[in-house]
Amino acid sequence: MGNCLGTPVNNHYSPPTTNPYTPETFGNCSKHPGVPSTSSSNNTSPENVSDGVENGSSKKETSGKIITPNLKMFTLAELKSATRNFRPDTVLGEGGFGRVFKGWIDEKTYAPSKVGVGMAVAVKKSNPDSIQGLEEWQSEVKFLGKFSHPNLVKLLGYCWEEKQFLLVYEYMQKGSLENHLFRKGAEPLPWDVRLRVSIGAAQGLAFLHTSEKSVIYRDFKTSNILLDGDYNAKLSDFGLAKLGPINGNSHITTRVMGTYGYAAPEYVATGHLYVKSDVYGFGVVLLEMLTGLRALDTNRPTGEHNLVDWAKPSLSDKRKLKKIMDPRLEEQYPIKGALQTAELIINCLESDPRNRPSMEKVLESLEKIYAIREKPKESKVKNQKQGNNRRQEQHSAYPHRSPLHSKNGGSGNGGSAYPVRSA
Ligand SMILES: Nc1ncnc2c1ncn2[C@@H]1O[C@H](COP(=O)(O)OP(=O)(O)O)[C@@H](O)[C@H]1O
Ligand SMILES: [Mg+2]
Repeated sequence: MGNCLGTPVNNHYSPPTTNPYTPETFGNCSKHPGVPSTSSSNNTSPENVSDGVENGSSKKETSGKIITPNLKMFTLAELKSATRNFRPDTVLGEGGFGRVFKGWIDEKTYAPSKVGVGMAVAVKKSNPDSIQGLEEWQSEVKFLGKFSHPNLVKLLGYCWEEKQFLLVYEYMQKGSLENHLFRKGAEPLPWDVRLRVSIGAAQGLAFLHTSEKSVIYRDFKTSNILLDGDYNAKLSDFGLAKLGPINGNSHITTRVMGTYGYAAPEYVATGHLYVKSDVYGFGVVLLEMLTGLRALDTNRPTGEHNLVDWAKPSLSDKRKLKKIMDPRLEEQYPIKGALQTAELIINCLESDPRNRPSMEKVLESLEKIYAIREKPKESKVKNQKQGNNRRQEQHSAYPHRSPLHSKNGGSGNGGSAYPVRSA
């Protein structure tokens, strides 16, 4: 296993520099993935990348479990066939690692099948230029291959052939949260869907943090939160995940990698990575969901490029908060819920990681906020549609403005490539 993985390394911190391959990401693995047999990771194969991740169950309060990997080793030919030779019109997205294609395989044998036959999968293919390729691939197999949790994307298999690293995941029908929040023409996500998504993502992070050996996700951002057909959120992209501190240590020290705008200040400044560094990233995503603005956007007026810096002073004041709320919500949210979310964001963005809440606490807060949303609606429903219980049930079970017909949803998401590590 390379130095980028698992083992905390000495602090290689250097001021974040722009990575020529992924302009919006930072950090640099010093090794080029190159040919696996000549890299320092030459003993690594999916069978032995698992050291450091224990089998066994997680703590009781989380619903997932850590399982022995049962991953299929695909051949490149199989994945070529499943994606129709990686046809450009099957691209679902693109990140620092490479492109993600939609393919089809048989549900039982996982053999490639024709379009529309069997089950859809997402095939992530390393970019030959990606200097992070091998490490990220190993990390995904190491972590995602071991975990089973409703809020983590399922890894089905992998392929390592002809200097190419590939990963095969369950297909997430509604694509990334990034697309729903920021893609032009996307149907706006209603307030309660945003909350549901944040609750799902929080559950995924809480699971990682409380698993027997805590795992730090390190790259929490909207492009790594994927949505299934019912808008259930699942974390994907474990390329930068690390095992958390052990022996009572508060942090691990590692080279700085991640995405500008989301990474915690202590990590960017010192290379000290805490479990609570993920909580900071969670706060940033919550702020993006509240405002509908990207964490980092140099197209905004000067002084507004960094969302956290710009929006933080407005979060504790009701009048100011209303002004920065996403206009696409059309004021369809309970102000009490918005204020409590803003307060939670402030806590997650505390500069001292020790002052940030745990993800379990964040989850508790979000669930309380989610409960608030019902109240104003119920009274409205009572006034307008007395006695129509069935309709009320539908309302509480599903958002009042269902985004099911989102233009970006479903397989329509696979039309074009777009950079995803933009913050
Ligand atoms: N399982 C999947 N189902 C549907 N779309 C996916 C899936 N995995 C990835 N994508 C799309 O591809 C994009 C990049 O995937 P990601 O795993 O984050 O790659 P990278 O490691 O290169 O950042 C995501 O933001 C999403 O739009
Ligand atoms: Mg990604």
